Amino acid sequence: MATARSTPGRDAYHGAMAVTAQPKLDVQRVRADFPYLEELVNGKPVAFLDSAASTQKPRQVLDAMRDFYEHSYANVHRGVYRLAERATEGYEGAREKVRGFVNAPAAREIVFTRSATEALNLVAYAWGLDNLGPGDVVVITELEHHSNFVPWQFVANRTGASFKHIPIDDHGELQLDALDEIAASGNVKVVANNLVSNSLGTINPVEKLSAWAHEQGAIMVVDAAQAAPHREIDVQALGCDFLAISSHKLCGPSGVGAIWGRAELLEQMSPFNLGGEMIRSVALDRTSWNELPYKFEAGTPAIAEAYGFGVAIDYLSEIGLAAIEAHEHELTAYALGRLSELDWITLFGPPAERRAGIVSFDVAGIHPHDVAQILDWDGIAVRAGHHCTQPLMARLGVAATTRASFYLYSIAEEVDRLVDGLHKVKKNLG
Ligand SMILES: Cc1ncc(COP(=O)(O)O)c(C=O)c1O
Repeated sequence: MATARSTPGRDAYHGAMAVTAQPKLDVQRVRADFPYLEELVNGKPVAFLDSAASTQKPRQVLDAMRDFYEHSYANVHRGVYRLAERATEGYEGAREKVRGFVNAPAAREIVFTRSATEALNLVAYAWGLDNLGPGDVVVITELEHHSNFVPWQFVANRTGASFKHIPIDDHGELQLDALDEIAASGNVKVVANNLVSNSLGTINPVEKLSAWAHEQGAIMVVDAAQAAPHREIDVQALGCDFLAISSHKLCGPSGVGAIWGRAELLEQMSPFNLGGEMIRSVALDRTSWNELPYKFEAGTPAIAEAYGFGVAIDYLSEIGLAAIEAHEHELTAYALGRLSELDWITLFGPPAERRAGIVSFDVAGIHPHDVAQILDWDGIAVRAGHHCTQPLMARLGVAATTRASFYLYSIAEEVDRLVDGLHKVKKNLG
């Protein structure tokens, strides 16, 4: 069981790597919550270094979901019988937990989606198609995950808006001096940026970009899929207009995510999916929409998954996001130090103090898939590929990288095993 720890005040940790005194994460105790970490691969303990793709799930979430399915499951909102009321309470309770997790002003501004990808598509379609046109500019960055890139590229093409990117420097950090040229190229209407890059771990200056976006009269859309699991999120302090998160990246089940949006924008937008639940009334000649957030939640939602998402939020909040962030920061600094001992490896991304727990690298002359395969012999799970960031890979001049990513259950011994494994890769294939 994770122990109850006080969650430190938001202000102390907002916007910077946590360095203040705080309860240290009891990582061995945390590890005991995750059944998979007890398994052996080829007789060796698993070293799961792929949490940026999806995290392992603690017993607390798994048990709560099983209990929910056994004793609280029915379709939500429509039933008047007790079980349906209990299911609705579980589902709406989760919405309130998501609201608190991102410090949104109101629960009706939280829309459950299938994933962060669907959350970002919702904004691109439901806001973008009605608000963009020729002469307008959609701004993304060279660091975006395809989920926050492709929908905007598509909607820009559909509407005749132009599609510009903020370039990165050689450390994988945004070159904000490009903003003036972008502003001069048309009416900037959308800035869409991730808070943490899933490929390089770069922590992006979203507050600054939000301020710039608003100066241009644009909306700011934040992809926080990779940030929310690791640091406190405060939509009001970030100053953004929309923010997407995903349950499966933060110890919750897959199949559910959320978009937070400012009520006044969500109110003006057309629905994204149409069907049951999202209507107020339907007649042969006309349909009117339900109130927020239901206008955007057509059909039966992922009920137990949303509930599990809420339990995962409780789990992380009890441990404390600041303690998780500090733990990952320490581990990332250690990993960067150890990996830089290997002179046949190129490390990508910013220094430890400006990145989250993600380390991407290239092993000279060896394809990342071969690297990952050999590491797997020793039970070390890393990801090899373009990580859904092909424009970034093009900028780095590689087709793919090997990526190790850390979470609250990751330990320094796993970093040591990664380094030993890489020596083995070099010996076998170098
Ligand atoms: C930065 C970022 N954005 C978006 C996504 C997509 O999230 P989801 O899997 O919930 O669609 C990911 C997943 O890897 C991600 O890392």
